[in-house]
Amino acid sequence: MENSIKGLVVVGSQWGDEGKGKIANYLASKADVIVRYQGGDNAGHTVKFNNKEFHLRSIPSGIFYEDKINIMGNGMVINPLSLAKEMHELLSAGYTLNNLVISSRATLDMSYDLELDGLKEAKLKDKFIGTTKKGIGPSYTDKAERSSLRMCDFLDDDFEIIYKNKLEEKNQLIEFYGGNKISYEETIADYLKAKELIAPHVKETVSFIHNLREENKKILFEGAQGTMLDIDFGTFPYVTSSSVNAGGAISGSGIGLGYVNDCIGIIKAYTTRVGEGPFVTEFFDEKANLIREIAHEYGVNTHRPRRIGWLDLVQLKYSQSVNGFKYGALMLLDVFSFLDEIKVCVSYELDGKEIDFLPTSLKEQYRAKPIYKTFKSFKGVDISKLNRYEDLPIEAKEYIQFIENYLKIKIVIISVGPSKEQTIIREEIF
Ligand code: GDP
Ligand code: IMO
Ligand code: MG
Repeated sequence: MENSIKGLVVVGSQWGDEGKGKIANYLASKADVIVRYQGGDNAGHTVKFNNKEFHLRSIPSGIFYEDKINIMGNGMVINPLSLAKEMHELLSAGYTLNNLVISSRATLDMSYDLELDGLKEAKLKDKFIGTTKKGIGPSYTDKAERSSLRMCDFLDDDFEIIYKNKLEEKNQLIEFYGGNKISYEETIADYLKAKELIAPHVKETVSFIHNLREENKKILFEGAQGTMLDIDFGTFPYVTSSSVNAGGAISGSGIGLGYVNDCIGIIKAYTTRVGEGPFVTEFFDEKANLIREIAHEYGVNTHRPRRIGWLDLVQLKYSQSVNGFKYGALMLLDVFSFLDEIKVCVSYELDGKEIDFLPTSLKEQYRAKPIYKTFKSFKGVDISKLNRYEDLPIEAKEYIQFIENYLKIKIVIISVGPSKEQTIIREEIF
């Protein structure tokens, strides 16, 4: 079905790992161009089709369609060594990567950023963030400080000198934090090798994107992480360092506000979180362990067990507001086939008072207690092979309708398994 949406943002509505990779890959089949707009290889996006499974870290989830252009936007931080590794993985799986374009304005995430990430976390002692240790915070810090290297520096004929000077400066900081200096001689060869692979893909992407837009191409923006990890709107300081929210698609790609028409929030049917920080609906009993095992809730990148909680509509309402999504994709609903009841948080109790908003203060977030509504589940009913909304059990439909009414959105996609085929499309929006 032809639709008027030409610029659609896919955004994580919780703490990441909602299933953005799966949905971005599905929606990419309807797009001409797919753009990652923030974050770096801290992301781990799973894409599963034809019994194959891929874990993308920096490359957009549309890369498997050779006729669709995949852009790594200016808002990203890119580790050239890890990108080269990811490219090699895809090349050896038979993909040409002729459809991969990288912004010359993207920030570089370098060896010293990774080192400093680990050292700074260690220095925080019991207040550590639980980062992926991929150098994300340090590279965005340098960007805000206006001192980071960018992709155009990587391509510069003088890159070796630029890197040498930067490393000298960073080694002082590494020593200050008690770390071991990084050797230029031991690292430069790997960068030069990665440069050979990456350089042909680098472009000035603002004019590139706008030329495509003028050709009436449909553009999909693939967010990484989740809104509660957003630098402005997340559970600060337990967040990542980028603008995860849908607005980040504009500054992270150069598309311009007027050319983005809509946004779809990716919502896991319950909640997970990796890393530290407040999590009002977290629970620890055997049900949490069951969910973790059934859904393999372990980090794609770091393999850490994900923390488990019930769906939090107070948090989701906030996320819906800051992103403005009118549509939602409800993920991992099949997991409820193993549970007899499902809980949904509808408000919080804070110091004896009921509230329906997320408090700013971390102390208050830690003190807030969830107030739940309990739903009967559809235990024993296998929904993982369904592809029509009408065929879902009544309990599933009631759960979906409750979420829709609370958030005033329409759930247009329901995911009932990790594979592309295990997807119920209720309404085509793109
Ligand atoms: P992303 O970071 O948002 O792309 O999500 P991840 O790939 O990190 O985590 C989502 C996990 O859930 C992956 O292992 C997916 O294969 C899996 N997944 C996605 N959708 C579904 C679903 O509907 N049901 C089940 N059981 N697993 C799913
Ligand atoms: P995708 O795109 C889940 C978390 C880390 C940590 C915090 C800061 O797969 O959903 P960072 O390394 O970014 O400085 O870590 O953010 N985090 C994620 N959690 N999914 C992700 O990405 C994440 N990327 C970062 O665990 O709590
Ligand atoms: Mg992930």
